[in-house]
Amino acid sequence: MAKTVLVTGGTGYIGSHTTVELLEAGYDVVIVDNLSNSEKSVLKGIEKITGRKVPFRKVDCGDLSRLRGVFARHPFDAVIHFAASKAVGESVEQPLLYYRNNLVSLMNIIQLMREYNVPNLVFSSSCTVYGQAEKLPVSEQTPRREATSPYGNTKHICEDIIRDSVAAYPGIRSIALRYFNPIGAHPSAEIGELPRGVPNNLIPFVTQTAAGIRPMLSVFGDDYNTPDGSCIRDYINVTDLAKAHVVAVDRMTGDRMKSGFEVFNVGTGRGVSTLEVVRTFEKVNNLKLNYKIVGRRPGDIEAVWADPAYANDELGWKAEKSLEETLRSAWAWQQHLDGKKSE
Ligand code: UD1
Repeated sequence: MAKTVLVTGGTGYIGSHTTVELLEAGYDVVIVDNLSNSEKSVLKGIEKITGRKVPFRKVDCGDLSRLRGVFARHPFDAVIHFAASKAVGESVEQPLLYYRNNLVSLMNIIQLMREYNVPNLVFSSSCTVYGQAEKLPVSEQTPRREATSPYGNTKHICEDIIRDSVAAYPGIRSIALRYFNPIGAHPSAEIGELPRGVPNNLIPFVTQTAAGIRPMLSVFGDDYNTPDGSCIRDYINVTDLAKAHVVAVDRMTGDRMKSGFEVFNVGTGRGVSTLEVVRTFEKVNNLKLNYKIVGRRPGDIEAVWADPAYANDELGWKAEKSLEETLRSAWAWQQHLDGKKSE
């Protein structure tokens, strides 16, 4: 019988791509999402790609009793917990919202996993836990640094909640995946990133500028201590990232974990500057991007990229798609969205 995975935040950007990869790997999926930062129409995209209809419950993970209803109805083998708020700037303005959403949701999930004997939890963590590391690239052994935003702090605290829960409750084990910068869209262009309002992240801002929705991209700073002066990140294709979740669930359900709580970096191992992203986007999509260099964005880290060796060796997972292919997929998705609007 197929194993069933609860995907919280499954209509979101990474959640939807992961749902597709899980279905294609033979898992059944149930999605829970409060639709606070995603659209129900994403379910249609998932169905178009996979030919499968995914059960969906509009539930906020902060609502323990409604979430309990979901656990009572479906026997889950694993939970992948994506549902969380993720805008760094907003978290500085509304810290309580971030602490409540991100921490209470996780605590509810763990409580219900215990009540319903669901042993396996994959948690969406972030490279933000490393802050500006002294030595690059960062491995899982790189010490975590004090967070620079409430959002970042929720990732620290959630990892700690999981570590302590795994130690206290023998029935629970977990893998935290520390994502670097996920970008791009599914190769079918049926699903992708759907930012609401003005995008905070680089790639949706780039594609919306190319599409003429935004007049100009601002590149935040060219005076960093990097080869071209702009910040460096590890941009990972969202489908590659999604596949890491499938491998993590395989590992847990196949009893192959080495300890109750494992942490993996999910990145490419390649650092790319903001200006390199801009130039590559222009080249592979054969267009010119309107951009200007402006001052640094407060809170930005100069450079971070992953040492993915541990994930490569231990999970048998590797990021495969090139930056070029990924930036083409981001543009194809933007065009798909614009096509839909003018229909
Ligand atoms: C941030 C968080 C990360 C989080 C992610 C989710 C930190 C250090 N990083 O990633 O943990 O998971 O958001 O939203 O807290 N840039 C521009 N112009 C723009 C937008 C971005 O130049 O209009 C630059 C930024 O300065 C940065 C790079 O592009 O150097 C990537 O920015 P972004 O996509 O926002 O991601 P991070 O800030 O790296």
